[in-house]
Amino acid sequence: MGEKRIIETFDLTKYYNGQAAVHKLNLHVKEGEVFGFLGPNGSGKTTTLLMLLGLSSPSEGRALVCGLDPAKDSRKIKARVGYLPENVGFYTDLDAVQTLDFIADLNGIPADEAERRIQEVLELVGLKKEARKKVGAYSRGMKQRLGIAEVLIKNPSVLFLDELTLGLDPEGATKLVDLIAQLNQDKGMTVLLSSHNLYQVQRICNRVGIMINGKMVAQGSMEQLAEERLGIGDKEYSLEEIYLRYFQES
Ligand SMILES: Nc1ncnc2c1ncn2[C@@H]1O[C@H](COP(=O)(O)OP(=O)(O)OP(=O)(O)O)[C@@H](O)[C@H]1O
Ligand SMILES: [Mg+2]
Repeated sequence: MGEKRIIETFDLTKYYNGQAAVHKLNLHVKEGEVFGFLGPNGSGKTTTLLMLLGLSSPSEGRALVCGLDPAKDSRKIKARVGYLPENVGFYTDLDAVQTLDFIADLNGIPADEAERRIQEVLELVGLKKEARKKVGAYSRGMKQRLGIAEVLIKNPSVLFLDELTLGLDPEGATKLVDLIAQLNQDKGMTVLLSSHNLYQVQRICNRVGIMINGKMVAQGSMEQLAEERLGIGDKEYSLEEIYLRYFQES
């Protein structure tokens, strides 16, 4: 893992109706790491991701993603960052291959290359067998996998995964998280993921950040946070214990 910062924010702030959804956020994500973006509902995680992609403009402060300013270079950032939104929508009448073909086309990938990439990503996310089934008939887990496949089509170097494991059963969540770990290790992708599934986050993340009411109350490795808040760096602890402690004390 390098020391190069892929994501850096400088007092990034977003107001909605006079209320700060994100307040003076200084987030750092290093190249090659898997960063867990945690916090209760409404704490500002999705709002932050939207600003990092240039899909929402900050009220104050600024950000750099891959060295680029999302307020100016949103297109270039979108070419490098694969974004899985909280609620991915699909055309229910298309099958997986047609869905991915559509996305490849939107990304300007030539037809012959698209064909190859589609097979590659279907294999990667484990949807080969279901590739010709209409997406309307997909289960939640299959849709989530197809969402990842869409994100991977353009071969991004960074992944933003919002609520990756939402609605998945324990086995489905484990498999999907394993896939993300594999992409991180084999392809060196930097990953920023939000999830309420702290067990899975603890399994995969190098560092985490905890947002509460739009403020980042903690940022670091789990060992650092355990030491800081629980006074134990080397003993057994769970991310849930750490998280709840910050939550209670905020
Ligand atoms: N478009 C909007 N207009 C007004 N308020 C908004 C808008 N989007 C988000 N908010 C508010 O900003 C705050 C942060 O919301 P956000 O969606 O970023 O939270 P989150 O951490 O992603 O929550 P969750 O875990 O539920 O997805 C909330 O109070 C929310 O109501
Ligand atoms: Mg959200």
